[in-house]
Amino acid sequence: MAGAALAVACAGLLAVARVQAQPKVDAAALYKTHCQLCHGANGTSPMKNASFTDAQWLRGSSLAEVQATIRNGVKGTVMMGFGAKLSAAEVEALARHVRSFDKTLK
Ligand code: HEC
Repeated sequence: MAGAALAVACAGLLAVARVQAQPKVDAAALYKTHCQLCHGANGTSPMKNASFTDAQWLRGSSLAEVQATIRNGVKGTVMMGFGAKLSAAEVEALARHVRSFDKTLK
């Protein structure tokens, strides 16, 4: 019985934590979890076409284009699409984050 009450209390706490956590998107943490392995901690990926610091944006450098690349991936490469995994807000935050690695972009 006590266990059930504790489970209910925990579920309640989790629900509260989730609601509070939602508006904030931690782009750096998302990057670390989903992207860093291939793109490198500072965006200096050694993989072909995957560097964010070489001022070459094969798939387009605008915020909209970068978001589209993150959402849809690049067919025929290991760059998978994250549209099903991440929310629109998370994709936008990540797009801003990876663009910030390129100091030539505004
Ligand atoms: C499994 C390795 C891998 C992972 C994980 C990965 N990428 Fe990529 N990404 C690549 C490769 C390889 C390319 C180059 C594809 C090509 O040839 O155009 C790429 C390309 C890109 C591009 C286009 C770069 C350009 O020059 O236009 C963007 C933007 C990008 N990735 C963002 C991300 C983000 C954000 C994440 C995390 C949510 C991520 N990637 C996760 C491997 C990866």
